[in-house]
Parts: sequence; C-alpha cells; structure tokens
Amino acid sequence: MAKRVRLAEVTADNWRAVASLRLAPDQAHLVASNLYSLAESKFDQAARPRAIYAGRRVVGFLMYDVSRGRGKSRKAFIYRFMIDAAHQGKGYGRAALAAALAEIRAIPKIRKVAISYMPDNPVAGPFYASFGFAERGRDEDGEMIAELKL
Ligand SMILES: CC(C)(COP(=O)(O)OP(=O)(O)OC[C@H]1O[C@@H](n2cnc3c(N)ncnc32)[C@H](O)[C@@H]1OP(=O)(O)O)[C@@H](O)C(=O)NCCC(=O)NCCS
Repeated sequence: MAKRVRLAEVTADNWRAVASLRLAPDQAHLVASNLYSLAESKFDQAARPRAIYAGRRVVGFLMYDVSRGRGKSRKAFIYRFMIDAAHQGKGYGRAALAAALAEIRAIPKIRKVAISYMPDNPVAGPFYASFGFAERGRDEDGEMIAELKL
C-alpha cells in the first residue's frame, strides 16, 4: 500500500533526519542544503520549514514563507523543496506539494503562491505546471519564478 505523505513541523526530534537528507551529486546545485535552510529559518520569523514524511520516515523537506500581497491579501512563496535521492520518483514529491498547497490554502486571505527553481532544472517546470503554476520570469538571482492564483 502507498505510504501516506504528510508535512510536519521541524522539531528537536526530527531536525537531524531532515539535515541528513541528500540529493544526487548532479542535483546538489538545485537547492540549498537542508542544514543551511534550517539555520536560515531560525533567523527569519516568516520562514515555515516542513519535514516531509512518507509513513514514519522523513523523506524530504520544503520551506515557504507568507508575506503581504496587494491590499490586505497575503502571498506564499515556496523557496525550498527536495525529496531525498533514494526516495525520488515514488510520488512523494507530488503528494508533498499537494499537502503544502492544502496547508497554504487554509491561510486566511491568501491569494497567491509562488515557487522558485533553477531554469536548468529538467523536472521542476513541467512538474509545477501540472499543478497550474505559470512561469513569470526570472528573479534577480536568475531563478525562475512561477505563480499559482488560489
Ligand atoms: C523535484 C522533486 C522534489 C520531485 O520529487 P519526487 O518525489 O521525485 O517526485 P514524484 O515521484 O512525485 O514525481 C513528480 C513528477 O516529477 C517527474 N520526475 C521526478 N523525478 C524525475 C526525474 N529524475 N526525471 C524526470 N522526471 C522526474 C515525474 O515524472 C513526476 O511526474 P508525474 O507525477 O506526472 O509522473 C525531486 O525530484 C527533487 O528533490 N529533485 C531535486 C531538487 C529539486 O529539483 N527541487 C525542486 C526545485 S527547488
């Protein structure tokens, strides 16, 4: 039976499991290390780091923040997302993104979610487009930004 995928807060109990997740060597440049992201999240109050569980095992990590959009609306930005190399291609990424979008949709006054990725990432563009994300162009660091209206 397929393992249930869920998001959970990163805590004293699971942060080491998150930090030990790895990408394949040819993917390492696509996302900052989880250790870096966890450190960053301690100094950015808006950051919402999440461990991705498949059953009882930590298989991935994502991080997003929520800021003000136009007027009183709010906007989410998913800026880290990875599934451990040993667990890719099993549907966990798709289930985790669906769970993240469900969590984000529940935020009051949320209108939009954006996601960023390296333009040379062969999987990201089509994968996010399948959720309805539309590419909006590159940011100042050269990363592609895609947006989804909620
Ligand atoms: C992108 C990523 C999060 C997807 O997670 P995953 O668990 O492997 O994805 P899934 O098994 O749910 O598959 C999602 C889609 O991606 C595609 N995909 C996944 N790995 C792939 C690969 N190595 N090559 C080609 N396509 C791939 C699948 O075809 C799938 O499409 P489908 O659901 O229509 O069949 C994961 O591959 C990853 O961590 N990649 C490296 C880091 C990265 O690129 N992060 C995202 C940008 S910041």
